[in-house]
Order: sequence, then C-alpha cells, then structure tokens
Amino acid sequence: MTTSREVRLKSRPVGLPTADNFELATVTLPAPAAGEIQVRNDWMTVDPYMRGRMNDAKSYSAPFALGEAMHGGAVGTVIVSGDEGFKPGDLVQSNYGWREAFNAHTSMVQKIDTMGLPPQTFLLRVAGLKEGDVVFVSAASGAVGSMVCQIAKLKGHKVIGSAGGADKVRFLKEELGVDEVIDYKAVPDLMKALEAAAPEGIDVYFENVGGEHLEAALNSARPFARFALCGMISMYNATTPPPGPRNIALAVGKQIRMEGFIVSSHYDLLQAFHHDLAEWHAAGKLKWKETVVEGIERAPEAFLKLFSGENFGKMLVKLT
Ligand SMILES: NC(=O)c1ccc[n+]([C@@H]2O[C@H](COP(=O)([O-])OP(=O)(O)OC[C@H]3O[C@@H](n4cnc5c(N)ncnc54)[C@H](OP(=O)(O)O)[C@@H]3O)[C@@H](O)[C@H]2O)c1
Repeated sequence: MTTSREVRLKSRPVGLPTADNFELATVTLPAPAAGEIQVRNDWMTVDPYMRGRMNDAKSYSAPFALGEAMHGGAVGTVIVSGDEGFKPGDLVQSNYGWREAFNAHTSMVQKIDTMGLPPQTFLLRVAGLKEGDVVFVSAASGAVGSMVCQIAKLKGHKVIGSAGGADKVRFLKEELGVDEVIDYKAVPDLMKALEAAAPEGIDVYFENVGGEHLEAALNSARPFARFALCGMISMYNATTPPPGPRNIALAVGKQIRMEGFIVSSHYDLLQAFHHDLAEWHAAGKLKWKETVVEGIERAPEAFLKLFSGENFGKMLVKLT
C-alpha cells in the first residue's frame, strides 16, 4: 500500500482564487492491477489554463470536479509495474499532476526519453512562429514566452518582449538577446512604449496576456500582421467581461489575421520539437528559468503566484 497526498478543488473560485478553494487529502493506493503501473510523481506543473478548469464552464478542457484531485502535467517514476512493457525506474509523463503518486493503466501515460534534457523540461509548453518578421511577445520571460523569444531569435527575427520588473527585463535582454524589452509595469503608456521599441511596426504578435497588450499590438501591427493567440492571462480572473480590445477595428484595415491555438491540437509536431529542443540545448543555445516550489501542499500557492508574476520562468512543483 502506498500513501499519496493530493490537492482537490474544494470550491469554485470567483475572481482570483484563494487557498480556501483547495484542500489537501491523503489517499491509499492498492497494488496496481494487471496492465497498470504505480507512479511516484517527481515534478508537476501549474499552468494558467488551469484557472479556466476551476470554473463550471464549457471549454476546450473539461472543468475540474469538486471534491476530486485536479489534473495536470506531471513527470514521475514507475515504482511498481503490472505491465511487462514498464519497469520500476522508468520515467513517465502523464496528466496525473496535483498528487504525489497514482495508479493508472499504461495507456494513460507516456514513457519519456529525456534526450539529455532534465526531466522537468517535458512540462514546458511551446509554439512555433512564422519566419522573417518583427515579433512581439508578451509575458516574455515566462515559460512559454521565453521559449518563443529564443526560437524567434534563433530563426533571425527582431524580437520585442514585454515583462514585469527589472530582473525579468535584464534576463531577456542580457541572457536571451531579446532586442527590445518593455517593462510594462514601469512604463506610463504601453502603446507608446511599443511604438518606440518597434518604430517600423510588428508583423507577428505572440499573445499571452490580452487587454492593453493586445491593444498595443493592434496599434503597432503592420499590414497583414499575424497574431498567434496563445493565452490572455490578464483576463483569467475577471468577474465581468473586459471592455476591449477597444481598437479591434484596426484589424480590418490592416488585414490582420488572428488565430487562437491550443497546444494539444498540434501534438503531431511534438516529437520534432523535442528533437530541435534537445539539439539547441546540447549546443548551449537555449536558456530557461524555473521557479521551484517544494511539496504538494504548496501547489496551490505555486499556482497563485502565476497571477502576480512571482514566478520567473516555468513554475514547477517538486514532489520528491
Ligand atoms: N494555447 C495553449 O495551448 C497554451 C499552453 C500553455 C500556456 N498558454 C498560455 O500562455 C501564457 C503563458 O503561460 P505560461 O505557462 O508560460 O506562464 P508564465 O508566462 O510562465 O507565467 C505567467 C506570467 O504571466 C504574467 N502575468 C500574470 N498576470 C498578468 C497580467 N495581469 N498582465 C500581464 N502579465 C501578467 C506574469 O509575468 P510578468 O511578471 O511579466 O507580469 C507571470 O509570470 C498564458 O496566457 C497561458 O494561458 C497557452
């Protein structure tokens, strides 16, 4: 028998979640049945999209059930195996985050070949960019944003990033080589700051934030600009619909193409991307930051820090 602690959604948050919306419970796992494995999670991720799953609303990802352990990306080690294809010590990734250990049928997990990368790398979320453009990235120092900035730089783009705080600005400029960085928390007018950073305008906007960032991008967009809508974190805790983007009409005359995407619709590219990532990493071309919080009991706290910008790079919870 293995004991595991797990974080359950106790109540649905209204606005910014609080610790009271979560509860920690202890469960006992039996030995895995035939075809199943028992896994001890080493790492789990907390991600902004999980906020949407805390609402009882129809979306691309089903709502978390009240009173049950939440789900999310995790990397763990097989400790007991009831399947001859898996042995203790194998590293697997799964969607059984928010818990220390679990039993699952082997069809519910994927074995990982780390290709020399640290295992927690497999929790990073990424997206490709079109080549040859001036690229603007919001939440640029975050897990997604910092990868997007580097990929765009590796492909020879001029990149403009936006992030909150001097440390994040320094990292983007000095360590990632981002051409222009806007500290959106310090500038009086984000629209003017983007105009100054990209006087020629932008061709691609990688949207992570929404609100004023989207308005600034619409304002600076050149004709036929493309906006990849990855996320809009500034709106996830809104209790009333936001008023903007107030200048959306610019999209007509500038013939802007906006396209939202969900990473799971592009898993066909995942293996090729892992190989690129491993190659860039081996060549020392890739840097990333991680903020690590230790212990399942602190997972809600780690999640909440995403909304105050207290994470620097990928926010992870270390479980072993
Ligand atoms: N479409 C998909 O499949 C997909 C997959 C993964 C992630 N995403 C989206 O990608 C975005 C980034 O996710 P991530 O996991 O990489 O998180 P992250 O960027 O590592 O962390 C979130 C960051 O967002 C910034 N932020 C929070 N509230 C903000 C606000 N009100 N205004 C401006 N910035 C704010 C903070 O950075 P500062 O300190 O710079 O403010 C914070 O550190 C999110 O919008 C997420 O939903 C989408």
